[in-house]
Amino acid sequence: MTTKNKIFSIAISLSAAFFSAQNNTVRTFNLDLKETSTPIKIQPTMYGIFFEDINFAADGGLYAELIKNRSFEFDEPFTGWKQQNTKTLSPNLDSGFLTIYSDPAKTNKNYARITVLNDKNYILENEGFRGIGLHQGEQYDFSFDLENVSGNIAAVNASLVDENGKEISSVSTLIKRNGWQKYTAVFKAPKTVEKAKLRITFTGNGIVNMDMISLFPQDTWKGRKGGLRKDLVQKLYDLQPGFLRFPGGCIVEGRTLAERYQWKKTIGNIADREYLINKWSTGFPHRLTPDYGQSFGLGFYEYFQLSEDLGAEPVPILSCGMACQFNTAELVKMEDLDPYVQDALDLIEFANGDSGTKRGRIRTEMGHPKPFNLKFIGVGNEQWGADYIERYKVFEKAIHAKYPDVKIISGSGPSPDGEFFEYGWKELKQLNAQIVDEHYYNSPEWFMKNAGRYDEYDRSGPKVFAGEYAAQSVGVLKPDNKNNWLTALSEAAFMTGLERNADVVYMTSYAPLFAHADGWQWTPDLIWFNNLKSYATPNYYVQKLFSNNKGTDVLKIERNGKAVSGQEKLYATAVKDVKTHEIIIKIVNTDTQAKTVNIKPGTLKTGKNITKILLSAPQLSSENNFDAEPIKPKEEIFEAKNGEISTKIPANSLVVLKLKTD
Ligand code: AHR
Repeated sequence: MTTKNKIFSIAISLSAAFFSAQNNTVRTFNLDLKETSTPIKIQPTMYGIFFEDINFAADGGLYAELIKNRSFEFDEPFTGWKQQNTKTLSPNLDSGFLTIYSDPAKTNKNYARITVLNDKNYILENEGFRGIGLHQGEQYDFSFDLENVSGNIAAVNASLVDENGKEISSVSTLIKRNGWQKYTAVFKAPKTVEKAKLRITFTGNGIVNMDMISLFPQDTWKGRKGGLRKDLVQKLYDLQPGFLRFPGGCIVEGRTLAERYQWKKTIGNIADREYLINKWSTGFPHRLTPDYGQSFGLGFYEYFQLSEDLGAEPVPILSCGMACQFNTAELVKMEDLDPYVQDALDLIEFANGDSGTKRGRIRTEMGHPKPFNLKFIGVGNEQWGADYIERYKVFEKAIHAKYPDVKIISGSGPSPDGEFFEYGWKELKQLNAQIVDEHYYNSPEWFMKNAGRYDEYDRSGPKVFAGEYAAQSVGVLKPDNKNNWLTALSEAAFMTGLERNADVVYMTSYAPLFAHADGWQWTPDLIWFNNLKSYATPNYYVQKLFSNNKGTDVLKIERNGKAVSGQEKLYATAVKDVKTHEIIIKIVNTDTQAKTVNIKPGTLKTGKNITKILLSAPQLSSENNFDAEPIKPKEEIFEAKNGEISTKIPANSLVVLKLKTD
């Protein structure tokens, strides 16, 4: 190396060392904490849950039924079922066969007629929802409806077989001679199996009709028979959600009007709830799920009950006479809208009417005499344009004429800006709409950049329901989106802006909520599950930290007199909780450098001990999975010094600080 080159190289090394030393210096940011000039209340509904039956969220997910197509109603009625050694599969084997019969008097018309010719050979098998999950030592309620038609079939034998086809548990049920009867038995699982199958054989030859072949874990949420999957509801419960929005999403609208969600068809006797194909079964060519139906075992009564269990306000969303505008965009003519409006009025009566009312009586007969105290109703999901506004007006008039206290949620379309959004907001403002739903699926950068979105919103206009949002690591509708730390961190940054603007933003929810690891259509999703387990994503823990620490009143947290909203990649929000006498500060650092914050509580009286909850990850690309949740809140305690709260906010982290007010 020449002398000149040597000097140059030393200079480069020195300047690199200088910059690296500078980068390693943890800079201190002074923040001031104070009361807002006028009180800003945080609504109890601030952080809630968006539930939609997408990604096997209901059948195959939250609804704990383990048999797919239990009453043979799928368009392809053999879906989920397989016959072995049967004449229809192989003409040389005359063991038996299954045909589908229909009873026109029933809502679910189909049932299976099984002809057993050789009971030694005939086997009927159900594959469950991508397998049947069994937990060692747990009990499972097996039931079916059967009518003995002819011959001498004396018993139905059912067994659970593991992935290798090996029988692990069996029950046998004797058959009575006369009419349709319900039969029940209980399985005990001697081992844990993720993808078991149910196998049915017969003792004796003859013909029987079978329907509603069902298998449920006994260990459901609150131990309810035919209930919900416990681990999944527990995760929702842990969020302490302020509301539960159901049943969607575009599923409310349907691909066609005929396929819209009709709440009246989802209540009453389970076997009579009319089956419907799931909209999402053909939602994406890259993730076709033709075996995705809606049994409505999880129907509107169960949604209300779940809301009550979670301590969340029920927020049903109804069709406004417009099929999904991304699909057929079918429209109900204005003169034919009445039945749709009546559905909304009837729903409010179903939820709130006393037992003397027609719909209140149905609720009472289903086991809930006490009203559900419905306070919100959504008119349409993600509609846009003049057709929506025209229909919304009719709903609004009718609902408020009869139920002036019920708050109506209207929509501003699928995007957070643009022509449809601007038009929707302008019209809804003029109509004095109460709460407007906004949806945003966008990049992590968009979320960080838009943390101040609501700072300038009109305080006298409608309130905002940030009803569907999620940062997309690849792009909207891309199958490879990941629930990684970058997406969660960017949502946390954005959420500081939601909370700071709680006088405008009344409700918020991440979407979608659930995804089955083998049955999903849409990514990313808040909670992932398979037949046995579930795990919480980093995005879930962000939601949990905000929701569990939402407080009751907004406080100001400022740097140099300005809200902390992205300057030097720092975001912050602060609240007090007048019930628990706490101050809660949430700080998000999206920088690759740690920062020290020095918070001065000014005239606010604060205690000494501070709980610091840290959520961070080794990499922005880090994720949780079924085996481990490396990204999970960690807690420690430290003390305030000289009345000031000084702490380090690591690079790329969310920190929640909690302290008592004196
Ligand atoms: O959350 C998935 C879908 O995204 C919802 O069904 C719809 O409202 C939105 O387009």
